Amino acid sequence: MIPQDTVNQILQAAEISEVVGEFVNLKKRGANLIACCPFHNEKTPSFSVSPAKGIYKCFGCGKGGDSVRFIMDLEGFSYPDALKWLAKKYNIEVKEKEFTDTELAAQNERESLFIVSEFAEKYFRDILLNTEEGQSIGGSYFRERGFSQPMLERFHLGYAPDGRDDFYRAATGAGFSAEVLDKAGLISVKDNQVFLDRFRGRVIFPIHNVAGKPIAFGARILKTDARAPKYVNSPETDIYHKSHIVYGIYQAKNAIRQKENCFLVEGYTDVISLHQAGIENVVASSGTSLTVEQIRLIGRFTDNITVLYDGDTAGIKASLRGIDLILEEGLNVKAVVFPQGDDPDSFIRKVGGEAFSRYVEQSQKDFISFKTEISLADIGNDAVKKAELIESLVLSITKVPNPVKRQIFYQEVGRLLNMDEHILITEGNKLLGVQARSTVQKNDGGKVTPLPPQRNLEMEVLSKADTPQEEALVKDLVLFGQTQIGEDYPLANYIFNETGPEMIADPVLQAIYKQYREFWSRGEAPPDRYFVSHPDPRIQEVVIDWESPKHTLSRHWKKYEIFVPDYQDFLAEIITRINFRIALIRVRKEILEIIEQLDTEDEDREIILQEALDKKNREKKEIAEFLGSVL
Ligand code: GTP
Ligand code: MN
Repeated sequence: MIPQDTVNQILQAAEISEVVGEFVNLKKRGANLIACCPFHNEKTPSFSVSPAKGIYKCFGCGKGGDSVRFIMDLEGFSYPDALKWLAKKYNIEVKEKEFTDTELAAQNERESLFIVSEFAEKYFRDILLNTEEGQSIGGSYFRERGFSQPMLERFHLGYAPDGRDDFYRAATGAGFSAEVLDKAGLISVKDNQVFLDRFRGRVIFPIHNVAGKPIAFGARILKTDARAPKYVNSPETDIYHKSHIVYGIYQAKNAIRQKENCFLVEGYTDVISLHQAGIENVVASSGTSLTVEQIRLIGRFTDNITVLYDGDTAGIKASLRGIDLILEEGLNVKAVVFPQGDDPDSFIRKVGGEAFSRYVEQSQKDFISFKTEISLADIGNDAVKKAELIESLVLSITKVPNPVKRQIFYQEVGRLLNMDEHILITEGNKLLGVQARSTVQKNDGGKVTPLPPQRNLEMEVLSKADTPQEEALVKDLVLFGQTQIGEDYPLANYIFNETGPEMIADPVLQAIYKQYREFWSRGEAPPDRYFVSHPDPRIQEVVIDWESPKHTLSRHWKKYEIFVPDYQDFLAEIITRINFRIALIRVRKEILEIIEQLDTEDEDREIILQEALDKKNREKKEIAEFLGSVL
């Protein structure tokens, strides 16, 4: 943990225009600075930095945040890593003194693993480039594979000599202990005294973290030897969790962001061959099945993944789960299958970068068509199997968090399988209901609970028009909470007297509400920029949006400064708005409760409920109309 003092010190020092200015060319425009957005491709600037507010915001792609968020987004760093990066820039010492002795030891151990991995990477490179064995064996392997010199450099490829403990001797000679070499997975220890190099007589592919530090190695055999495995990889260590990293992310991250797409391939050599042909937005899962953490890592740079499959269907079937996972994370996924017998590496070497891109462009399929085609091939006329396929497609669609996208996918499945899409939607809602019930959240009395995954079943059932009310309520709380609306009576008091967190369904808005309320119950208000600098990116994003010029403009300009210049009128209007909002949210909750009960076998009861529902819906409409007319 970085102590809060230090965090504050960093936040204060990290002047937004300085931090952003280090990466993009900022130009002055009024009180703000503008530039072309570093997070998406654009020719006219829609990226703006407000030094006064300490935030940036892109009106093109929607990214926004403070200095820390900028570094996190741009470099793909975690929150603490971004803080450390800034601390370094501003010469602020980060003494993580809240560590206990054991934690401190663990921290130092991680540090030493980074150092020894760095040493190993240099060692293997040195052997490849500067020894005869390296050149004649490792070097000729890479030459045969067609890897160019720049690629050897970009990926820091190396060669491990064919002795039993060459590396061990070099490393201990340089001062590393057998213990740390063992912990880094670079040697294996037998009977406490026989030390054997893990990688022997193999070419080395270092695996880098997002910041570009080597954390592990993949080592490929050179000869075809049926008894030895083709690849030997580093074991899991304190700095390497193979399910959390994708190969090539450091080298690919800028291209991924620029192209707004990431190709996902299977192996090291696929990544390198694509780079060599000029396609740099590519990473590999390195032979393992795709994990949520890997998808999130890619998701820091783009929303779009294209999975490139070898041309054998067995492998594809096994990996369909990965596609569902990508959807669950809210990313878009497409798939490309290469001709039988080819993988991306062999295919691009055969046809070159241009033809490769053309092939991808022409044969990529969205996941619905892909899954359908793969499955239909061996279903034939089997009705039971077809029903299973439909269910599995619908299940995939329910994983998509965005309701608009879900709609489109339902239509497509309907079209592909010649079915009424409404049946599919009903089916999907049933499945969603089951999922939602099985993941009911427990409430732990007022504590700040981590946010549940970002999805919202209720939105499925109700029109979306209600969420803006919740949002406006929480926004008023955040922006005007401390405004006095009576003698010693701030607006936040009023809101908290009239409402409770249960009225706010959206998990992000609810979290903001609860956190504000926590401060309030201690007799405090959230510190300046508390939400704008919030470690949870979803909270930050929402609040940044409220603080950004678009909103503040309409807030002062149209409503209040021109039409309602009087402060008392302004307050009266806020209160009116809030009252109606509260009423609207209440009705909406009641409607939901009725809908919940509608699923009954009892016909009489259903009629009564239906009537109650109609009544509440009319009420809702009236309030909404009134609200619309006062605003
Ligand atoms: P060729 O295509 O035959 O030239 O070999 P390659 O080096 O490209 O590897 P291949 O396409 O067979 O495998 C793709 C990826 O699967 C590799 O990059 C590895 O990450 C993984 N892999 C392949 N074989 C092994 C193995 O024996 N052990 C482990 N752990 N991973 C492997
Ligand atoms: Mn291969």
